[in-house]
Amino acid sequence: MADRILVAYATRYGSTADVAEAIGDELRKAGETVDVRPFTDIADLSPYRAAVIGSPIYMGRWLPESQVFIEKNQQFLRTIPVAYFAVGLTVKEGTHEFIRKAEASMDQVRLLVQAVEVGVFPGKLETGRLTIADRAIVKLIRAEAGDFRDLAAVRAWAQAVREKIAQA
Ligand SMILES: Cc1cc2nc3c(=O)[nH]c(=O)nc-3n(C[C@H](O)[C@H](O)[C@H](O)COP(=O)(O)O)c2cc1C
Repeated sequence: MADRILVAYATRYGSTADVAEAIGDELRKAGETVDVRPFTDIADLSPYRAAVIGSPIYMGRWLPESQVFIEKNQQFLRTIPVAYFAVGLTVKEGTHEFIRKAEASMDQVRLLVQAVEVGVFPGKLETGRLTIADRAIVKLIRAEAGDFRDLAAVRAWAQAVREKIAQA
């Protein structure tokens, strides 16, 4: 019987992996059996009764591999409760406009597979670790470097997701 919850994610520089681990940890604390995995490490979805799926936002969009994961597995994902989260820097501004923009990164996947819950969380940017191309983009858009993650908010969201999964 499928009794596990999957927390699946993509990441370029690791900050979304930390957010995914915090979600997984919170669900485990609540008694769930959870696997936290990058998309590249997921072969079989059959053990899962629910999925929490997330991506960082790059140039306003989820990473391509996150979108591809949903497309590839949409048939199965439509049979279980699914929650989405996005991690991006603009979320830290906290205004309705920026939150809506960050949520828009998930519009396409929400059309493929509906979500019981969505969340957007501020991320982390370390300019010293970026590829030359990414550094050029960051300079162009004048993004502010720093760690803006709020893991307490992420954990609170994970609890809300657990309730939604239970109700679904
Ligand atoms: C090239 C580049 C483009 C980005 N574009 C956006 C964006 O459009 N919107 C946003 O909110 N954050 C943007 N960010 C910030 C990332 O989403 C943020 O740093 C995130 O925490 C990175 O996640 P990761 O460490 O898991 O790769 C961008 C960062 C880089 C380096």
